[in-house]
Amino acid sequence: MKYTALTKPLHDYICATFPAEDDFLRRLKADGEAVGMPPIHIAPEQLAFVQTLLRGINARFVLEIGSLAGYSAIGMARALPEDGKVVCFEKEPTRAEFIRQKAEEAGIPHKIEVHAGDAKHLLENFRPEHEFDFVFIDAEKAGYVRYLELSLPLLRKGGMLCGDNTLAWGNVFDANSTDKTVQALRAFNHAISKHPELSGCLVPIGEGMTLAVKR
Ligand SMILES: C[S@@+](CC[C@H](N)C(=O)[O-])C[C@H]1O[C@@H](n2cnc3c(N)ncnc32)[C@H](O)[C@@H]1O
Repeated sequence: MKYTALTKPLHDYICATFPAEDDFLRRLKADGEAVGMPPIHIAPEQLAFVQTLLRGINARFVLEIGSLAGYSAIGMARALPEDGKVVCFEKEPTRAEFIRQKAEEAGIPHKIEVHAGDAKHLLENFRPEHEFDFVFIDAEKAGYVRYLELSLPLLRKGGMLCGDNTLAWGNVFDANSTDKTVQALRAFNHAISKHPELSGCLVPIGEGMTLAVKR
């Protein structure tokens, strides 16, 4: 087995060399926690990674499922052209409103559109005017396979889909796990690996990101 374990000095080096997080995003996290939101945003190096992917595929429209305080949404919006947009689905209305406020403060309200409610219900009736270039799934893990089914028809060919936390906190290998989250993430990874329209991989960054391109 050939790999380099991620140590704290290595992590610090990566984040310092390819910084994606500025004072605004650091303050956004602190402001979210101050109003009771959990610190479960993607990691800064994951944001740098996703921004690089978005730029690489010339993404204009991004669909995000699970947005919390808007850290990843605003971070992704920064990697889009001026006429690009991140469309967020966030279950909690207070979080949805928080994201709208932060998008204003960031000076990019035109690049963030927030829909409040359960993404599974909202997506069933969602008829966007354009196809998406990138789908980011980061809501409740039990819904991941359904989010894959609902969002894939909205993704353009050559577009990418990404799900977060897909190492299941180190337990994704365990086929006998009775933990529902582990089972859900295993089912998501399996669905992507076997999907006839997708080519994918699992990148061990942060808590793990499963990536796929639509063929
Ligand atoms: C891990 S956080 C998202 C973090 C965010 N992507 C970031 O990195 O900044 C998960 C979010 O998904 C939301 N969520 C959970 N279930 C949902 C559902 N069924 N529909 C929409 N949002 C949901 C939660 O309210 C929470 O804010």
